[in-house]
Amino acid sequence: MKALLILFVLMNLDKLLKTAHCTETQDQVLSITPKTQEQVDILKNVSTQYETALWQPVSPHYIKEDTQVHLFVPANSSETVKDLLQRYAITHEVLLANPNELIEMQTRNDSGDPRSSSTFYERYHSLEDIYFWINRTQQDNPDTVKVILIGSSFEKRPLYVLKLSVNNRPNKKAMWIDCGIHAREWISPAFCLWFVQYSLSFYQLNEDITNILDNMDVYILPVLNPDGYHYTWTTNRMWRKNRSTNRGTKCIGVDLNRNFDANWCTEGASDQPCTEIYCGAFPESEPETQAVADFLRSHKDIVQIYLSIHSYSQMLLFPYSCTLEETENHSELLEMVQEAAQKIQRHYRNIYTYGSGAKTIYLAPGGSDDWAYKLGIKYSFTFELQDRGRYGFLLPPSHISKACNEALLAVKTIALKVVEKT
Ligand code: ARG
Ligand code: ZN
Repeated sequence: MKALLILFVLMNLDKLLKTAHCTETQDQVLSITPKTQEQVDILKNVSTQYETALWQPVSPHYIKEDTQVHLFVPANSSETVKDLLQRYAITHEVLLANPNELIEMQTRNDSGDPRSSSTFYERYHSLEDIYFWINRTQQDNPDTVKVILIGSSFEKRPLYVLKLSVNNRPNKKAMWIDCGIHAREWISPAFCLWFVQYSLSFYQLNEDITNILDNMDVYILPVLNPDGYHYTWTTNRMWRKNRSTNRGTKCIGVDLNRNFDANWCTEGASDQPCTEIYCGAFPESEPETQAVADFLRSHKDIVQIYLSIHSYSQMLLFPYSCTLEETENHSELLEMVQEAAQKIQRHYRNIYTYGSGAKTIYLAPGGSDDWAYKLGIKYSFTFELQDRGRYGFLLPPSHISKACNEALLAVKTIALKVVEKT
């Protein structure tokens, strides 16, 4: 018995030591609310000078008094950061004491076979598995699913779009949905997979999706930024941008949602490659941006709805984000997202805020939604899915189904409105 106990202790020595070592040395996500301009400045400094990852807001530039900042602080800068916060009496609480446990939870059980389990869509999947899934989905649904190669990423990964089409009605319009433009927003690619699965399973069973698919084709790009997504699985879970190299600096990556040709690189984007909102060397400098823009340009007469899926913060946004001006159909767009948000609240008891991007969050030029709108796609949206900061980018897999179902309800609401109009 004694021998067994000793054996147990020896076998679990590293685990026991780790728990005994207390939380001080672990990665954490802090929620910090600066109260004075001095505290704002300290916080801006902390998030740029130390090895941290800003979750909210997207750039230190937007840190302001009395507004929550969500900051990922890795173990090695934890002490310095906390000392600084204490020294300047900056209020903070631990939002996530165990991000590594959550990351582990998000990457567990990742199985390659779409048919191996009914919970495939309630898990997150590596890029490799998503490529496998794309192939399998096409093979299993040869009459409705086509796979279109629209280009490749900086690291030469293919960019595949799935085209869902249930009939050959002439002059059919279309809806475009892209996911995963920002690498760390894992719920986004999960939504694209969910949407495809739902459409294929419930066509002819659910009235709304049947009505939508009878009247429009859907183009779905599950991972717009495959290099970044892959990098979040292998190296840095907090990565946002793509992985292109930049001239004259070691800093990697362009914010693809600042790289489109819509008031490119004006206020709300940065020309500094080391920032998270770097706009790139010129509009459409990135192969991922160019592939999407080329595809939409050549399909602009059929694509009526443009939809880009992000996380987190639960928002339904529409143009403009690149200027405070209102679009010509502002009230129409507002009505659509308002109805969608009301439905989500009624069915799922979750709050989504809504409005034009610039007025609802911040000026953010070079975004895909604004560009698509200016191209002539008048129903253009960006959704920010769950949550509102409880788990942030580390939304547990158990939340995927609700997050996707409520977003699906918003997509249906908007698509049906457009079908009705035409
Ligand atoms: N959080 C998103 C971003 O920073 C917001 C996107 C809103 N639309 C836009 N065109 N910026 O990219
Ligand atoms: Zn995003």
